[in-house]
Amino acid sequence: MPIYIPPITRRQFLRGSLAAGVSLLLPRQLWAEDKPADLNTWALLSDTHIAADRAKIAREVNLAEHFETVVREVVALPQRPGAALITGDCAFLKGERGDYAAFAGLAQPIRAAQIPLYLVPGNHDDRNHLRAAFTEAKATRRPSADRCIALVHAPLANWFLLDSLDQTNSTPGVLGETQLAWLAQTLDANADKPAIIAAHHNPDDCSRPKPSGLLDTARLLEVILPRKQVKAYVFGHTHVWKVARHDSGIYFINLPATAYVFGKGVPSGWVLATLKPDGARLQLNCIDRAHAQHGQTVELKWRAAL
Ligand SMILES: [Fe+2]
Repeated sequence: MPIYIPPITRRQFLRGSLAAGVSLLLPRQLWAEDKPADLNTWALLSDTHIAADRAKIAREVNLAEHFETVVREVVALPQRPGAALITGDCAFLKGERGDYAAFAGLAQPIRAAQIPLYLVPGNHDDRNHLRAAFTEAKATRRPSADRCIALVHAPLANWFLLDSLDQTNSTPGVLGETQLAWLAQTLDANADKPAIIAAHHNPDDCSRPKPSGLLDTARLLEVILPRKQVKAYVFGHTHVWKVARHDSGIYFINLPATAYVFGKGVPSGWVLATLKPDGARLQLNCIDRAHAQHGQTVELKWRAAL
């Protein structure tokens, strides 16, 4: 099954907030049931790295505060996005149960705002602990016994959510032949709309002695390059915001981390993706509103279908 976290009711949210000792003085926009939904926009987040201790600081960043900021911004959008997607590394380092308890609490406003939430695991996640943190998560058909994968239909695109977690707290990732076979079959059966693939790990040519990205990138490309409905591959992992276009015309969209970054001046934040019939518009939202790249937009034009 995918990690799909359904919305919760206002009553459930209040009950959870009381249990967590969270202030009930919440902005009005949190109650977004009445806001119009724009199913063609998705909020794209990655690498939240939430620790059990909400005061945790990593690389001079308060991880929970960063995620809280992003959650607040997503909830405050004038129109409810069709979904929020987090491309992995929800947990701090080892996918511990306490990390997900804190993560679930921080993510609650998204659910209370009636925004479906999708998670794909990263190399700092633990599938079982992640699933267990959301016991009420809706059971869905499981195309793969041990991986969290899904096809999500949106009006202007099909989202293929993949699971590249190999070993928790070990850097590289792998999709594996079972998942790639599912991807190929499911792409073939759903060729009527643009396809967007999302997973945690970055494409990697594996030319270095110790590759840190997706070890079976070559196999992934064999599957997606000839299938012209595939327009973009969305990922996190590197904690760097970057959009590149492969020779095939497929966009490689590297989402920024909501958490810490490794390089000086690299933005942390999230991306609002607005789909169009022939492309998409990406808008970067930086945690630091004064960052030079805050508000940057990138227009994508899909490659031809045939
Ligand atoms: Fe990460």
